[in-house]
Amino acid sequence: MFSSSLLLVTLLTLTLTYAYPSSQPPFYLVTTTQKGPTTNSSHLRAVSATSLFDPYYRPALAIRLTGPGYGSVPNFTLTHGILHTTASGPHGFGLYEYNSTQVVQGQELQFLAAERTHGELSLRNGYLLAVNGTTKGWTICVGELEQDVIEWMGTDASCNATYIHAVAEPPY
Ligand SMILES: *[C@@H]1O[C@H](CO)[C@@H](O)[C@H](O)[C@H]1NC(C)=O
Ligand SMILES: *[C@@H]1O[C@H](CO)[C@@H](O)[C@H](O)[C@H]1NC(C)=O
Ligand SMILES: *[C@@H]1O[C@H](CO)[C@@H](O)[C@H](O)[C@H]1NC(C)=O
Ligand SMILES: *[C@@H]1O[C@H](CO)[C@@H](O)[C@H](O)[C@H]1NC(C)=O
Ligand SMILES: *[C@@H]1O[C@H](CO)[C@@H](O)[C@H](O)[C@H]1NC(C)=O
Repeated sequence: MFSSSLLLVTLLTLTLTYAYPSSQPPFYLVTTTQKGPTTNSSHLRAVSATSLFDPYYRPALAIRLTGPGYGSVPNFTLTHGILHTTASGPHGFGLYEYNSTQVVQGQELQFLAAERTHGELSLRNGYLLAVNGTTKGWTICVGELEQDVIEWMGTDASCNATYIHAVAEPPY
């Protein structure tokens, strides 16, 4: 009796944990060739921090890899399948909530300061960024201005496979 109600409580807690990932505090996104988690993001294999990238003052921001020595990196939240982050608007004016746009095969993961109600992103096991539940398919590709950017299933010869982890503290 006691153990079955304990099990029920445990199951309910697990269900709530997965049903409401929005209760997660803001996290940072890193790229790594490692699938499994670590408590210290600096220890992830071939880890890289990421930041937002606005090549030509276009409305949509991309995500690029950022080496050691960055001043600060953006944090993210994920609700209803959408990643959210805060960034300044075009030409540096104002602060806006940027939302991830629909993930398209062969294109950059992009963010727009525009309303979006639901999307296809999730954090598998609470840390591994997935598209429609699939965690394998992210790539690091040489994009505009020779920056290494994140694409979903990039097919360019420059693209390398990567995982994207949500981590509590940025690496290096
Ligand atoms: C994480 O690991 C790095 C490198 O080993 C170390 O410098 C840093 O202090 C560690 N951070 C924490 C919070 O333990
Ligand atoms: C997340 O980023 C926002 C915008 O840059 C900042 O105001 C906030 O303090 C950050 N939150 C955490 C927990 O680092
Ligand atoms: C994700 O699933 C939706 C619904 O099935 C589909 O329309 C969309 O193309 C999928 N996205 C990707 C990137 O595969
Ligand atoms: C981003 O989407 C959220 C809803 O998911 C919305 O509240 C917010 O206003 C949107 N950001 C902008 C700049 O429209
Ligand atoms: C892909 O990996 C190769 C071999 O490690 C490396 O030379 C190249 O710079 C990588 N490409 C990107 C876009 O990171």
